[in-house]
Amino acid sequence: MLAARALSRGRPTEWFEELYAAGDRGETTVPWNRPAAAPQLTEWLAGLGAPDGRRAVVVGCGLGADAEFVGAAGFATTAFDIAPTAVATVRRRFPDSPVDYRVADLLALPDEWAGAFDVVVEIINVQALPVSLRPTATAAVASLVAPGGNLLVVENVREDGAPPSERPPWAFTRAEVTAFAERGLELVSLKQTSTPTLRWQAEYRLT
Ligand SMILES: C[S@@+](CC[C@H](N)C(=O)[O-])C[C@H]1O[C@@H](n2cnc3c(N)ncnc32)[C@H](O)[C@@H]1O
Repeated sequence: MLAARALSRGRPTEWFEELYAAGDRGETTVPWNRPAAAPQLTEWLAGLGAPDGRRAVVVGCGLGADAEFVGAAGFATTAFDIAPTAVATVRRRFPDSPVDYRVADLLALPDEWAGAFDVVVEIINVQALPVSLRPTATAAVASLVAPGGNLLVVENVREDGAPPSERPPWAFTRAEVTAFAERGLELVSLKQTSTPTLRWQAEYRLT
């Protein structure tokens, strides 16, 4: 309902703050909130080896489960979300966190983040934005990756030929999930996972 209203106002990112604020007031629950990091992330990060001073960024960090995992693994971690209440809540939840939590808009990133991160984590955020914003959002995620860096993308699966949804999440076809291959990013692996629903797990590297 919040999403539908925001979309009809032509302000497709406003409902996230409205939802987190309602959650903070105890009026609703945040449907995607998880108590632990996504299994795709835990598997992928284990394969990246020791942090060795590498910088990580978690896009659309929500209430922090993934960012806390990456930070605890020893990466110098920044995590951001467009919703100020999400960021305030996560700072309150993890007062001793090593993660640098920020309010930021994927669609208008700070210039200094361009190519600044060795490890970039994008889990089910771009699919929460209308398809008309997808090329911009995809390019913005890709822009964060430093030379030699790695990117994880996890999005819901839409089979080729299936009609696009009328409301979020807007699941990804194979062509859409492989479209992060820009700026020299190469797709190094792509598979479907079924936790908690059918999702792509795409891994990219910038050489
Ligand atoms: C579906 S939730 C996913 C949250 C988290 N990544 C997860 O896996 O549970 C989408 C998140 O992206 C955030 N978000 C939406 N648009 C954004 C934008 N333009 N910039 C930054 N964060 C955004 C929302 O506030 C929300 O926390």
